[in-house]
Amino acid sequence: MKSIVIYDSYTGNTKRIAYAIHKGMSRLREQCDIVRLRDVNLRDLANYDLIGLGSPVFHFRELANVTHFIEHNMESLDGKHAFVFCTYAGMIGHYLSRVVSALTQRGLIVIGWNSWYGSQYYPFLPKPYITDGHPDEIDIKEAEDFGTEMVIRSRRISLGEKSLVPTFPRGKDYDEIYGPTVGPILESATNRQLYKSQSFGFKVNMEKCNYPKCSHCIDICPMGAIDFSVSPPLFMINCDWCWHCEQTCPRGAIEVDWEPYDKLVEPQKTPMANEMMVFFDTAEAKGRFRRLVPLETINWDIPFFKVKKPPRIKLDR
Ligand SMILES: Cc1cc2nc3c(=O)[nH]c(=O)nc-3n(C[C@H](O)[C@H](O)[C@H](O)COP(=O)(O)O)c2cc1C
Repeated sequence: MKSIVIYDSYTGNTKRIAYAIHKGMSRLREQCDIVRLRDVNLRDLANYDLIGLGSPVFHFRELANVTHFIEHNMESLDGKHAFVFCTYAGMIGHYLSRVVSALTQRGLIVIGWNSWYGSQYYPFLPKPYITDGHPDEIDIKEAEDFGTEMVIRSRRISLGEKSLVPTFPRGKDYDEIYGPTVGPILESATNRQLYKSQSFGFKVNMEKCNYPKCSHCIDICPMGAIDFSVSPPLFMINCDWCWHCEQTCPRGAIEVDWEPYDKLVEPQKTPMANEMMVFFDTAEAKGRFRRLVPLETINWDIPFFKVKKPPRIKLDR
């Protein structure tokens, strides 16, 4: 039997978890491969009996490249086993329910799912942040054990123990475990405006840009949304707002007018901080969160977009 772990990752959290899962699976499997989502050889996929798929949570769901991969690239996988994993910074939203449903609709039998906290680099959130330090060694060990468990479960199901296929929690049951799935913060006026706004207005400052010597933003864009064949370069509609081009351009050549966002975020900072504290306190009380960063070190004044020197963050894919 063959298995594969497919992962997408930008700042390295999901990559670390994916490699730990792979290590746990390799304890038992004759062959277990691991590959980044964009490097998957689609023709080979049908050769695997067990497929693990994981990525970060972005905007309370999976990035559109994950959806696209499942809906358009996965073929003839009826009856194969799959599991889902992700890393996130506290608000998992509908990630698990969406990805599990999408895989099920492609004919895969989803035999497990899991999630881990990860440090975050979202432009509007503070640094240090509440989930920083994750995944730590405990998370990594858990991920290894999860990998081993998935292989054992897959084998037993293949041998006829169909009752081992777990029932995915839906509706209130899902919210009870993972909720609030969207949360009071997204419901707030600030975020409704932020998320609905179509005017992010990414622009390339050609005086700073080093294209074609540098094609960093094109290479890292998960959506292939940046088009340098026209002048000025175009940010296309399929941009999924990961912000990584703007955050990691070595010359700070991708520019956004932050002023409207700053104005929106500023008055919301204290209520948002309070809501998030309650959210994480509740998760901690339920045993769903291990705090690694002392509360007093969280600095609500430093969202990433205020860090002037480029690049603001380092990617590890
Ligand atoms: C653009 C963006 C959106 C994000 N949205 C969410 C979110 O909705 N919920 C959440 O819990 N974490 C969110 N995060 C945090 C990431 O899910 C978290 O940092 C993840 O571990 C990153 O994985 P990676 O290091 O593999 O890229 C977001 C991060 C970015 C950059």
